[in-house]
Amino acid sequence: MASVTLKKLNKVFGHTHIIKDVDLQVGDGEFVVFVGPSGCGKSTLLRLIAGLESISAGELCIAGEVVNDLPPRERGVGMVFQSYALYPHMTVYENMAFGLKLAKTARETIEERVMATARILQLEELLHRKPKALSGGQRQRVAMGRAMAREPRILLFDEPLSNLDASLRVQMRNEIARLHHRLGSTMVYVTHDQVEAMTLADKIVVLRDGRIEQVGSPQTLYQQPSTKFVAGFIGSPTMNFMPAELVSSGNDGCKVKAPGLGELALPQDAGGEAPGGALTLGVRPEHLRLAEARGDNAFEIVNVEYLGNEVYVYLEPKAGDTLLIHRSEAPSRWALGQRVALVPDLAHVHLFDAHDRALGVAKRSRAA
Ligand SMILES: Nc1ncnc2c1ncn2[C@@H]1O[C@H](COP(=O)(O)OP(=O)(O)O)[C@@H](O)[C@H]1O
Ligand SMILES: [Mg+2]
Repeated sequence: MASVTLKKLNKVFGHTHIIKDVDLQVGDGEFVVFVGPSGCGKSTLLRLIAGLESISAGELCIAGEVVNDLPPRERGVGMVFQSYALYPHMTVYENMAFGLKLAKTARETIEERVMATARILQLEELLHRKPKALSGGQRQRVAMGRAMAREPRILLFDEPLSNLDASLRVQMRNEIARLHHRLGSTMVYVTHDQVEAMTLADKIVVLRDGRIEQVGSPQTLYQQPSTKFVAGFIGSPTMNFMPAELVSSGNDGCKVKAPGLGELALPQDAGGEAPGGALTLGVRPEHLRLAEARGDNAFEIVNVEYLGNEVYVYLEPKAGDTLLIHRSEAPSRWALGQRVALVPDLAHVHLFDAHDRALGVAKRSRAA
């Protein structure tokens, strides 16, 4: 086990700057997830840690030692990829033993490690099979076993579940979480799937265009996103956004108005924004209540999705084209075509400035 420290890490491919000044601390035994849209640099950052790409600038430390120039096999990292790339002509046992053999490990040690790993991953019954005789989930477990048998200090995963179907993905996600509880090893895991990030991580790193947008626990990122990008990326259905205007701001809160919602008195301060300033108001679907329409504040219900345990209601503002979503437990008393008023939960309204930075986050976290 080991900690990992990234100091002003940069990666340039030709003339393209891909990873930009990334500072990050991964604690010993921590499960850290890199999440972000396709192409934002997640795999590149992971490959820099593994030593599969050279570092253009900055410093990478594993267990306090600078490893910039250490080749991958000397870094003590194990990597699991999306394509498991098992050797088809080898048995499960041979696949897991292969790396150890290459490293000229003693025969008895190899057997000990492979058997111990097989026990943890419940592969003992399958050791003599070839990959083609395994299910997708079993193959993915063998790929993990191959990385784990070498007893790496850090396990790195690059979208390991993306090739599996939805129900298997949920099952394997659960297995990886339990594996981490049991082994307590340091893990860095890349995914574009915010649900995987939320459910697996001790700490989530949201990447955007090669930079860290925000780092925090799943709860922090959900409740106190520091930018509109994070607010929109974490959570499904996504947060509702609408244009708003700052009316006034004081020590114990601020007032904003938004089309269709009227004037709202919010507990956060507006962080030096001037009255009249254009803001974006954000509110999650579960923090919007529906009420009987009164006067001008009417939204039309244009779709109702019944999911069994909960209901999503899609609302069209009178002017404007962006639909809003309300989420509630099923059953819902609201029906298609009805006109309703929206009442946001004022304690859970987010405000973003013209640069999409969240306002009043510090105050909200103090209150939490
Ligand atoms: N070897 C390479 N040479 C040039 N560009 C690359 C190379 N590898 C990745 N890139 C570019 O770096 C960016 C980030 O890629 P990647 O780290 O794979 O993103 P992600 O894993 O988040 O989808 C992409 O624009 C990709 O085209
Ligand atoms: Mg990738």
